[in-house]
Amino acid sequence: MTSPDVLRPHAERRHADELAAIAAADDRPRPPGWRLSPRAVATYVLGGTLPGGAVISPKYVGPRRVVEVAVATLATDRALLLLGVPGTAKTWLSEHLAAAICGDSTLLVQGTAGTAEEAIRYGWNYARLLTEGPSRAALVPSPVMRAMAEGRLARVEELTRIPPDVQDALITVLSEKTLPVPELGEEVQAVRGFNVIATANDRDRGVNEPSSALRRRFNTVVLPLPATAEEEVEIVSRRVAEIGASLELPAPPAAIDEIRRVVTVFRELREGVTADGRTRVKSPSGTLSTAEAISVLTGGLALAAHFGDGALRAADVAAGIVGAVVRDPVSDRVVWQEYLETVVRDRDGWRDFYRACRDA
Ligand SMILES: Nc1ncnc2c1ncn2[C@@H]1O[C@H](COP(=O)(O)OP(=O)(O)O)[C@@H](O)[C@H]1O
Ligand SMILES: [Mg+2]
Repeated sequence: MTSPDVLRPHAERRHADELAAIAAADDRPRPPGWRLSPRAVATYVLGGTLPGGAVISPKYVGPRRVVEVAVATLATDRALLLLGVPGTAKTWLSEHLAAAICGDSTLLVQGTAGTAEEAIRYGWNYARLLTEGPSRAALVPSPVMRAMAEGRLARVEELTRIPPDVQDALITVLSEKTLPVPELGEEVQAVRGFNVIATANDRDRGVNEPSSALRRRFNTVVLPLPATAEEEVEIVSRRVAEIGASLELPAPPAAIDEIRRVVTVFRELREGVTADGRTRVKSPSGTLSTAEAISVLTGGLALAAHFGDGALRAADVAAGIVGAVVRDPVSDRVVWQEYLETVVRDRDGWRDFYRACRDA
């Protein structure tokens, strides 16, 4: 059913070859309903080399233990809550975990302030409801209900944006593993393999804090920001290359220098100190996440490819950087100007970058 022109195939399709190779080499016990053993899931997520020599690309770059705890949690009766600041790959990891564990990352509830109980329980096809009365055929199952019936993983994005009473619809699902349908005098019981991966932003803390009853059903795993600049450069270059390839942008040589610079700027502003630890700098109001570095560079790549001379230059990323840093037109602009003048201007080999940013 998927056209070859699909802009962004789901992870299970994008990496179908890798998943098949991992499954073929996987001789460890699989939890009921799982397609792979927990160790094989970790290999898919973190990358590695299979006994036969096939190389598996890393999807998530970060502490192995974080991934192991996340995978192990999903093999228990507790659900998984991925927590972290925006752009720490919570959504990304949740998609890949679902793809590897149950071969389906599409059973997704996008949490918003307007998410209603039907998104977690079930709704009705009103035309049928009116003509036939409540029946199985008139019932519209939510992604969670389908995951229960099929023994798969349901993903709940941005859990803490969902109103508390709607969030609490998950309590029965997670504790009793059942979803009653009183209108039909029935219930849907979860099949082995069912579990839930939820994500939530640190920054949203306090918005709709999950009730303690719900919290107890989850094991929380915090995703950290990349520990070192090298790690962040690796994440960014890998993703930028992948996105560039899928958009059929020609990859310019030596983009790595510009990637290093963008990552350095983001890290320094985020951490409030220069990479050499010598100069304190002020942090802007927005989060300068790895995800934003990726979009700044992808934007730069498109500029370079279509309007430049084929190389990725400071001028191609400058506008993107300023846009990412200056969220508040007043206070962030001051922070940015100060950083430009005190740090960027006199840095060796950054002259072009300084000029491009000043002009942007
Ligand atoms: N540690 C990481 N490993 C791999 N990719 C990462 C990492 N951190 C960020 N990314 C990339 O950045 C983006 C993260 O976006 P997303 O998952 O939407 O973040 P979140 O849901 O935490 O706000 C993804 O495209 C992912 O490729
Ligand atoms: Mg997200």
